[in-house]
Amino acid sequence: MKFYRTLHPRPVVVIGSGEVEKGEINFMACAWITPLSEDPPLVGFSCSKENYTHRLVKRFHQFSVNVIEDCELIFKLGSTSGEEINKIEAFHLKVKKGKFLKVPLLEEALANLECLVVKEVDLGDHTFFVGEVKNWEAKNFEEYGFKEFWRVPLHKGGRAFCYPSKRLIFVQK
Ligand SMILES: Cc1cc2nc3c(=O)[nH]c(=O)nc-3n(C[C@H](O)[C@H](O)[C@H](O)COP(=O)(O)O)c2cc1C
Repeated sequence: MKFYRTLHPRPVVVIGSGEVEKGEINFMACAWITPLSEDPPLVGFSCSKENYTHRLVKRFHQFSVNVIEDCELIFKLGSTSGEEINKIEAFHLKVKKGKFLKVPLLEEALANLECLVVKEVDLGDHTFFVGEVKNWEAKNFEEYGFKEFWRVPLHKGGRAFCYPSKRLIFVQK
C-alpha cells in the first residue's frame, strides 16, 4: 500500500520540458503538482530523478504545465519515456512554443503555464522543481477557474482516473 494514495485523486497535468528551438522537447504526466505562491506566482512539481523530463528541466531551467482532458493520452505520456521514444511523433502531439519562454506547450490544452525554474529541492528519489509562472493562458476561464471544470481529469492511481462531479457545492455563510 502506498501512503501517497491517501492524497489522491488529484488533478493530473502534462509537464512539457526542453527547448523548442533546440529541437529537444518532451512531455510527461504529472499528478504531484501544486500552486505555491500568488505573488510571485509560483508552482512546483515533484519529478522522479529517473525521468527524461528531469534531465531536460535541469538542463533548460524551464517547464510548462498543460491541462488536458484526455486521460488516455495522459496515461500514454506517463508510461513511456522520451529517452526511448519521440512522444511528439508517436502520439501525434500538436506543439507550440511558449510566448515568454522557449518551452514547448501542448496546443490543444485547456490551459498552458510557462514556468522558469527558480528553485530545486533535492528530495530522495525525486526533485521538487519550483517555477515562476511567466505567462499563462486558459480557455473558458472565469473567477472560479474553468467554466467546464468537470473536464479536468483527476488521477486516482495507476491506470485509474476520474473526473470531478458537475455538481458544485457552495458552503453557507
Ligand atoms: C497519471 C500519472 C501521473 C504521474 N505523476 C508523476 C509525477 O507527479 N511525478 C513524476 O516524476 N512522475 C509521474 N508519473 C510518471 C511519469 O509520467 C513517467 O515516469 C514517464 O514515463 C516519464 O516520462 P519521461 O521519461 O519522458 O520524462 C505519472 C504517471 C502517470 C500515468
